[in-house]
Amino acid sequence: MNIEFQTQLLAEVTANVLVVYGFEGSPASAGTVELLPTETRQLLAELEASRELTGKAYECTLIHRPAGLAAQKLLVVGGGKKEKFGSAQLRRLAGAGVRYLRARGVHELAWTFEGSKLYQEGVQAVVEGAIVADYDADRYRTERDEERRIDRFWLATNGTLPSAAARAALEHGRVIAEAQNFARDLVNEPSNRMTPLLFSRQAEEMAARHGLECQVLGPQEIQEMKMGAFWGVAQGSEEPPRLIVVRYAHPEAPAAPVVGLIGKGITFDTGGISIKPSENMHEMKTDMAGGAAVLGVMRAIARLQPRVRVVAVIPATENMPSGKAYKPGDVLTSMSGKTIEVLNTDAEGRLVLADALTYAKQLGCTVLIDAATLTGAITIALGNISTGVFGSDQDWVNRVLASAAAAGEKMWQMPVDEDYRDLYKSSIADLGNTGGRYGGAITGAMFVGEFAGDTPWVHLDIAGTRWSNDEKPYLAKGPTGVPVRTLVHVLMSLAN
Ligand code: BES
Ligand code: MN
Ligand code: ZN
Repeated sequence: MNIEFQTQLLAEVTANVLVVYGFEGSPASAGTVELLPTETRQLLAELEASRELTGKAYECTLIHRPAGLAAQKLLVVGGGKKEKFGSAQLRRLAGAGVRYLRARGVHELAWTFEGSKLYQEGVQAVVEGAIVADYDADRYRTERDEERRIDRFWLATNGTLPSAAARAALEHGRVIAEAQNFARDLVNEPSNRMTPLLFSRQAEEMAARHGLECQVLGPQEIQEMKMGAFWGVAQGSEEPPRLIVVRYAHPEAPAAPVVGLIGKGITFDTGGISIKPSENMHEMKTDMAGGAAVLGVMRAIARLQPRVRVVAVIPATENMPSGKAYKPGDVLTSMSGKTIEVLNTDAEGRLVLADALTYAKQLGCTVLIDAATLTGAITIALGNISTGVFGSDQDWVNRVLASAAAAGEKMWQMPVDEDYRDLYKSSIADLGNTGGRYGGAITGAMFVGEFAGDTPWVHLDIAGTRWSNDEKPYLAKGPTGVPVRTLVHVLMSLAN
């Protein structure tokens, strides 16, 4: 998608479709509809009077040959309640416009900007919303609708010249949205095409293309480094595991912090010997969504070049039942030295993360953020809407929450509390790998946190938010790319 500013007055914009938005209750007289010529607004007032135009969120009204405009068509997108309007909603509106028009064979549109809204945040949000919306998980359809993409997306400024900051925001939005779509592509791959080895090749290829350092360790090294918890999960699979490490360091970055981004990379989770029911098991190809997001983040910062230091660590393996598989009751010795009794082989994510966190600390990380499809329980708690946020250090949790809000990814803090510790103890080892049904997302998170130790740590449980079960007006069904935007924002804001 080609995105550029167009500085003509709205009446003179020649794009195929000019897009504006208005708000609920007064769809013809607030938002960017206000910038239209009087003649055109008259038309909208009539549509409002006949209740064809309401301004309800994502309502799309397409008008052909609109009076007073050079554009062939005018699309009015409903902005919802004006009081709730902000950059997050603007991002979605742009997405809704894109998805509505591409479904109707439109390839070119001009999105209208309010002069006053030509600030960084707004431009970035619109660009992100447009690129993320122009995506479908249709790689494996032989009759793929490549035709249905938006080729040209204009940012129509109604006569205002874009500032340098607005131009930079366009580029930032592009980079971030492309990174998000890159992560979605990885998550969408089925496990026969995204084994740990193929996953590591994707990482290497991305790193080489964007000038990042990438190191991949295999089964021998994983065992030599005494990553007993990671290896316990990996030992049951015919596909050898990989530990993927990607580094980014700006030459002028301060020595600290070194941010460790750890992404769960289970390329398929059968549950192992504690095998999952067959219903919906195919969805477990997405159990590497945390790892995919972390790679997406690295791709974005390689292009944006913030003054920070980041180490990404992704333990990649399948979780399979076999004659070699680990079994309930087995005791594993993690890289940290802590011993773990395996109470359920389906609680494998926390095991691979345990060693990945220990390794990240060994590599010098001074703060840790992990993203993982860790528990079904988080979906019970928060549904598919909000990512669960857990952490040992409230300042870092607050940073992540603030970034999530700015990036338009919903997140909600969950408790971490000593009193839950008893739930995942073992009668024979230091820890048990499950804490039972109640508070399952919390005990899963806290188990991971045991391996962060005193290092500030934030855990994002994306089991519910990694995937959208239904199509939204602004987003295709399928992989979401959460939490790429939030993590990029965290790193960008650290640099300022
Ligand atoms: N990968 C799953 C969690 C998951 C569930 C992700 C649904 C995406 C959608 C994880 O490895 C798992 O199996 N967790 C268990 C933990 C339990 C055995 C303590 C769960 O949530 O049931
Ligand atoms: Mn599992
Ligand atoms: Zn899993």
